[in-house]
Amino acid sequence: MELQTETQKEEDGERWREEGERQREEDRKRRRDEDGGQKLGKRRAEEDEDSPNKKLQMLDHSVKVASHYNSLQEVGLAARSRSRIFFMRNFNNWLKSVLIGEILEQVRGAGPQQVSVLDLGCGKGGDLLKWRRGGINHLVCADIAGVSVEQCQSRYEDMKKKSHANEKIFSAQFINADCTKEVLAEKLADPDQMFDICSCQFVYHYSFESEQKADMMLRNACERLKPGGFFIGTTPDAFELVKRLEASDSLSFGNEVFKVSFQSKGFYPLFGCQYHFSLEDVVNVPESLVYFPLFEHMAKRYNMRLVVKQRFSEFFEEKVKKEHHRSLMMKMMALEPFPGEDSGRQATDSRAEYSHAKEHSGRAGVKLPLGTLSRSEWEAASIYLVFVFQKMS
Ligand SMILES: C[S@@+](CC[C@H](N)C(=O)[O-])C[C@H]1O[C@@H](n2cnc3c(N)ncnc32)[C@H](O)[C@@H]1O
Repeated sequence: MELQTETQKEEDGERWREEGERQREEDRKRRRDEDGGQKLGKRRAEEDEDSPNKKLQMLDHSVKVASHYNSLQEVGLAARSRSRIFFMRNFNNWLKSVLIGEILEQVRGAGPQQVSVLDLGCGKGGDLLKWRRGGINHLVCADIAGVSVEQCQSRYEDMKKKSHANEKIFSAQFINADCTKEVLAEKLADPDQMFDICSCQFVYHYSFESEQKADMMLRNACERLKPGGFFIGTTPDAFELVKRLEASDSLSFGNEVFKVSFQSKGFYPLFGCQYHFSLEDVVNVPESLVYFPLFEHMAKRYNMRLVVKQRFSEFFEEKVKKEHHRSLMMKMMALEPFPGEDSGRQATDSRAEYSHAKEHSGRAGVKLPLGTLSRSEWEAASIYLVFVFQKMS
């Protein structure tokens, strides 16, 4: 897939900045009008509060997002391995493992210490094992979806129960909170708690619904980081989403595993630029574009400097060069063997989904089987980017 040039990105950035400024002016005007409107009297406000319109407005993205994730069923390994996106999920997990492992190495490189982590938008605890493998000392898990937080906590309790007597599992706290609205620091069991790492995996884009929400999530991620501490995460690359939308002749794009639908194109506000994202049986929610230069700018308020920003494809190409990352990749089944082991069967029977692998396998000196992802899974995974910010002292 062709990458957007830096100049194109800068031009797009300029256009977004101008449009954003215009939108902010409109927001300011709307707020002034609303303030004026409030003077119309209490009775009017009370009537509005009960009106169906008002109730609909109150059902903002957070409510939809929380109820979506709450309703997701935990499925066992057998069902997961039959999923059409089994390898892509493993690939994403491998990528998070590598990111987490490397950041923990850096934290430890600064000297021996007790390592504390905040998992912001922890979900059902998909990263608990990574923290266990990383030998951290304390973990705080927070998520807006109450059911997910409960499942995360029982997974942790289970892990502790089943651990060996000589293994010291990290202590943990579980918080059910909308991290775009509530201040996490006020909910910490230890009011002096500071973190070495905040990990925010596939979550931050939910906050870009408004400036206020994006700022609150950023505050929660960064305000309790120690100097030198890291804010790491994964989020869709807005440039890639817009590029694919602009290339599409409709308001949506995707394939048999994922679909992204916008309401319009040509105008991309800085906040609240909503699209609907669905991915197989895993995600089906509204999300917002994260305009990265703005994210980076906002992070400066919290004394954070950007250290890494890499598309998944770039991250993969760099990390796969190291033997220990490659062997983890094999262990985690992060790529699909091509040709398939089971008499040539792949995750999907469509040959077009593996034409790239077929072509590559025909080249001289290529050892079989290859590791690959079906075209549709790669198109979905390659939307994302990895980011790492570090707190300046
Ligand atoms: C795609 S899942 C990722 C879960 C986990 N980080 C992982 O990588 O497996 C996104 C998570 O973000 C959470 N989330 C979305 N908006 C949130 C908010 N405002 N505050 C806290 N969590 C939120 C969802 O409930 C969901 O668990």
